[in-house]
Amino acid sequence: MIKYFAAREADVQATGRAIVTVKGMSLGIFHVDGQYYAWRNVCPHAGAPVCAGLTGGTTLPSNVYEYEFGCEGRILRCPWHGWEFDLTSGRHLADSSVKLRGFDVTVEDGDLYVWLAG
Ligand code: FES
Repeated sequence: MIKYFAAREADVQATGRAIVTVKGMSLGIFHVDGQYYAWRNVCPHAGAPVCAGLTGGTTLPSNVYEYEFGCEGRILRCPWHGWEFDLTSGRHLADSSVKLRGFDVTVEDGDLYVWLAG
């Protein structure tokens, strides 16, 4: 694996995300709860640029007639058909066998690097 520069930390922190191209591949770099995550900008459903979707929260498991909201800022909603993914794991909320393709992120002196096959 080789590390490639992806973005400046300050740029990602400013909006919570940056969509960048590394080695010809579009990636979404997200800042969630103090951690950085890199996901391939391709939805596993039908190929949409998923990282351009809205981020927000979701309803949590709860008792009947109780609605508890949580995970604010941690859920990515695909702009084409609304599939939702947990940005900390890349997993689809309803079917955990469906997952975004992710890459490790390293922080060095205010810069973010992603690790890709050479
Ligand atoms: S392409 Fe993402 S939900 Fe359909």
